[in-house]
Amino acid sequence: VTGGFDPALAGAATGLELADGRRVPLPVRRWRAAAAGADHWMLDRCAGPTLDLGCGPGRLVAALRAAGVPALGVDHSHRAVRLCRERGAPAVRGDLFARLPGEGGWRHALLADGNIGIGGDPAVLLRRAAALVAPGGSVLVETAGDGLWRGRARLLGTGAGGGGPWFPWATVGLAALPALARSAGLRVAGALHCGERGIAQLVRDAGHG
Ligand SMILES: C[S@@+](CC[C@H](N)C(=O)[O-])C[C@H]1O[C@@H](n2cnc3c(N)ncnc32)[C@H](O)[C@@H]1O
Repeated sequence: VTGGFDPALAGAATGLELADGRRVPLPVRRWRAAAAGADHWMLDRCAGPTLDLGCGPGRLVAALRAAGVPALGVDHSHRAVRLCRERGAPAVRGDLFARLPGEGGWRHALLADGNIGIGGDPAVLLRRAAALVAPGGSVLVETAGDGLWRGRARLLGTGAGGGGPWFPWATVGLAALPALARSAGLRVAGALHCGERGIAQLVRDAGHG
């Protein structure tokens, strides 16, 4: 399983170093706070059962449940799942590429906060997310940067050496999303740019698959 984010969730890492030299801040305080700002654009589009992939401490799951929308988080980190449960947000511990509850029946799947990078191959991840939602459902994806970048990343500030182990990672800008979406049987139905954050809604056509 890729990407041990636990030092970040514990507040001991503040950013990601990408293998091309870029440094990406990890807004851990935002993850641990209540949903805010551009989160609401994403949450407002969740009209039915929603699965948050790589949910971290679960602010999005908590906000959906508070609004009466059924929601579940999935994260392979024990720490993340414990933090979710402490705030009353249901979460299962596991790899999002392994078997999950309700596969193919979710109305929405979330890939927030750069989670489109998980596994290092966004085309594979989007196909996985598309298979989790029912026809007519959608995947909400946060974007970053310009085009598609695939490589490796590591956490910064994790100890004396300064960096954690490298793991596969990727970043996807809004411009790269339509082609990636198409390859997963999805189409871009809308997008938001709000300060640093970009979010797009990718719909699984009702007739697909
Ligand atoms: C960039 S952080 C995002 C934090 C989160 N979205 C939030 O609101 O707090 C990535 C999260 O995805 C989880 N993760 C990474 N790879 C995963 C995988 N293959 N399956 C499930 N969770 C994964 C990490 O444990 C981490 O909590």
